[in-house]
This record gives sequence, C-alpha cells and structure tokens, in this order.
Amino acid sequence: MKKLNLIIIALVLLSLSSYAQDSTNFYATMALSDAKELKKDLPNEIQILDERRNEAAVYLTPNAGHVLHDRVLVHGPGYIFKKSEEDAIAALYKDSKESPHTRMAFTITEDAIVNQTLDLINTQNIENQILELENYGTRYHNRAAATQAANDLKVKWEAMATTYGRTDVSVRLFNHVNTGMPSVIMTIEGVQTPDEFVVVGGHLDSTSSQGNNDAPGADDDASGIATITEAARALFEVGFVPNRTIEVMAYAAEEIGLVGSAEIASQYSNNNVNVISAVQFDMTNYNGSANDVSFITDYTDGSLNSFLMQLADHYNTTGTHEITYGTSLCNYGCSDHASWTNEGYMAAFPFEANFGQHNGNIHTANDTFSISGTADHAAKFAKLCAEYLIETAKSGVLSIDESLVDSVLVTIYNDQLVYNLEGANKNFKSVAFFDMQGRKVYETQITSNKGTVSIESFNAGIYVVNFRIDQKTSVSKKIVVK
Ligand code: BES
Ligand code: ZN
Repeated sequence: MKKLNLIIIALVLLSLSSYAQDSTNFYATMALSDAKELKKDLPNEIQILDERRNEAAVYLTPNAGHVLHDRVLVHGPGYIFKKSEEDAIAALYKDSKESPHTRMAFTITEDAIVNQTLDLINTQNIENQILELENYGTRYHNRAAATQAANDLKVKWEAMATTYGRTDVSVRLFNHVNTGMPSVIMTIEGVQTPDEFVVVGGHLDSTSSQGNNDAPGADDDASGIATITEAARALFEVGFVPNRTIEVMAYAAEEIGLVGSAEIASQYSNNNVNVISAVQFDMTNYNGSANDVSFITDYTDGSLNSFLMQLADHYNTTGTHEITYGTSLCNYGCSDHASWTNEGYMAAFPFEANFGQHNGNIHTANDTFSISGTADHAAKFAKLCAEYLIETAKSGVLSIDESLVDSVLVTIYNDQLVYNLEGANKNFKSVAFFDMQGRKVYETQITSNKGTVSIESFNAGIYVVNFRIDQKTSVSKKIVVK
C-alpha cells in the first residue's frame, strides 16, 4: 500500500514538473548530427522519425529542446518546430522543390533619398526601445508579457505612422495556431505595385535556459525589433512613399522553433503573395568581430546577399555611415529568415558578428542592454535596413493629376507664396517645397484653399511646390525665388 502511494506521488510530481516546463512533447526538424547526439545522451526524450541528407525529423521532450538550445554557443544549433509528424517529415523533402516564386533583379537608383535617410537614423531611439523591451522581464511566447509586448508594439507603430501623417500605413496582429502570442505586421502600401512585397523582420519573443520568467532578450532580439523600427521611422521622417508594399514584421515564438514566421511565410506562400525578398534582423547590437556585419550565407539567397553587400559598397564605404562586412555560417536555419527560405522566397540574415564571436549572453538573464552599453552597432544595421527597403521598394512615382495643374494658381509677392486652389475643387492637406536636388526644404499643413506661405528664409533658386491632396495625389508647380 505504501509503495502504491509513493508511485502515485511520484506520478503527480512527474506530471507537474513536465507541466512546469511550459509545454508537452513536440515535433521538429534538426541537424541529423544533433538528433543522433541527443538520442545518445537522452535516449528516452527523443525519437528520430525520419532522416534525409543531414537533417532529421524528430519527436522530442521540451527538456531535450532546451539541452539543444544550450549547446547553441558551441553550435549544435537548434530545431525547427513542426505542428505534426507529417509536417516534420515533409519538411525534410521540401528543399528539393524549385522555388515557385518569381525572382527580381536588384538595382541601386535612389541615392538622394537614401543619403538623406542615413542622416536621420537615431541611435538613441534604438537604445530606448531595447530598454523598453528588456523591461518586460520576459517575452517568452506563452507568458502574458509577450502578448502585452505585441499589443504595445502595435500601438507604438500606429502612433509613429500618425506622427508623420501617414494614411498609407496600417498595423495588424497576426494570430497563430501554435502559440498564443501574436506577431505584429506594419504595412506601408505601395503606390505603383502594391501586390509586390518587401519584407523586413525580427523576433519579438525571448527565452532563457535559466528559466523563462527572467528573459530580457535585449540582443536576442529586442535589438532587431528596435533596428527595424528605427529604419521605418527614418523612412517616414524623410517622406519616403514606396512603389512596392513594405511589411515590417515582429515575429512571435521564434525561440521555440520559428513558429510565428513559419505560419506567416506559409500563409503568404499558400495565398501566392509575391514577396520579393525578406531580410531578418536578429541580434544586431553586439560588436564581436572585426567586421560590422556578417552575412549568414546558409539558408539565405546568394543574390540577395550580394545585393546587400553592393548596398554597403555603394553607401557605406567611409565616413559616419561606414559599414564593413564579411560572411559567416549559422550551420542551420537558426532564425526566421529560414521560414521564408523554406517557402522558396529570397531571404537574407545580416548578423552582428561571425558565428561564435556573437553575444555569449543570449538565452540567459544576462542578455541586457548593459552588455553593449550603446546602440552604435545596431544603428549600422538600421542604416542597412533603410537602404534595402528604399532600394527594393523604390520611391513612389506619385500620380500627378495634370488635369488639376491649371486650376492651381501660385504667385510670389513680398517674400510670400500666394496660392489659390479653389478651381481644383479638392481638399488640399499640405504644401511642400523641394529644391533642385530633390530635398524637401519645407512642408506645412493647409487649412484653407486660399492662403500664403512665407518663403523669406529660402535661398535664391528654383523650387518645386507640391500641393498634396492625399498620399497618392498631388499637384506641382515650379517657382523661382530671387
Ligand atoms: N538569435 C538566435 C539565433 C542565433 C544564435 C544565430 C546565435 C547566431 C548565433 C535565435 O533566436 C535562436 O535562438 N535560434 C535557435 C534556433 C531556432 C530554430 C529555435 C537556436 O539557434 O538555438
Ligand atoms: Zn534566440
């Protein structure tokens, strides 16, 4: 009788302890060598379902997953979560299929606006947001704080768009099947080809092998979220309107096996969404190598990688915006870029250091901003991100309604621009002045269709005066200031 009681108590404790480990057994794929090693060390915690080339489909305990995670620094890398046995096995055979998506050629044509944008990248903003995210304490995907962080990020991105008067920007939560935490997606609608998408992303969740209640995840990956946020903000500040649609993504549940990004990329692929390319920013703020950026060359696209290198060669050779780079390997689909690669999309992963020289504090309670103490390193990645977004999405060719040009009257009188827009019968919202280098020198809201704007402080020269009706429509006139 005593023995039976003990067995019952032991069973209760056992079920409690596995409950405390956040979840139950799950399916995944991983490097075959890792699967075999785990099988040797923890024979009862992993089942190898199938193997092909150097990959294995497995069924494992959360503990086996953690053990694998802990080996990341020596690099027995990780695993990719799969929702069923079929999915895990199918993934092994996926890479052999040709990409179903069209590939486009990359060009560098937007020098003026890119150079202006580089000057606007603000390192302090990046630092502030890393600290903000670190302060949740944990963003482990199944904690309330993780969902809170996603809701808060949506509000932050919406406020940012509003600040810059962007009516072409929307932010949504993407709810998932395999995690309660949503991803956050900000969309800047393209004016010319809105059904072509340019994606940047990072993961919003965090993890810690020392216990997921203390997982600040400052470098992994608050740094990436802060990097893409600052790049987007700079694009808004410079007034960049894209031809293609841009999507900025904060993925949920990367740390348990790329769960959020896998569901997004798979939905996009199933719906035949034309994603030109996706660039991942995961760990950008630890300066561990001689080069600033290490382009990860496995599970990424060679032509996208060389385009990003060309961008650095073109925009970042010397001076305050200098960025040096090299290449490195992750040896595995170690972040969300792999989800896009798995669906046949072009993806890249510019990383903070060469593999092995990266921040050694990730996945611990010590992954805090204080390890770096400045966001200088991440600012370089924000610049690269802005360059990629502008040059891939391209500046919007806004429709200028020629039919309205004659009904917009402007004259210059006493250092004032005098305008009368009544003949157009439209609601004009703002007027902007561009110099001959294409720089926006002044912009102001319009409250009436008749009025004046002081141009007293303008240097002599020719300016384009652009009266805006909405995001897509405006009317331009040239003026000469003497
Ligand atoms: N940011 C890491 C990936 C990483 C770590 C890249 C170290 C390069 C060096 C990412 O958040 C992560 O932890 N990935 C997992 C794999 C994933 C499929 C669960 C990993 O590498 O263990
Ligand atoms: Zn991680």
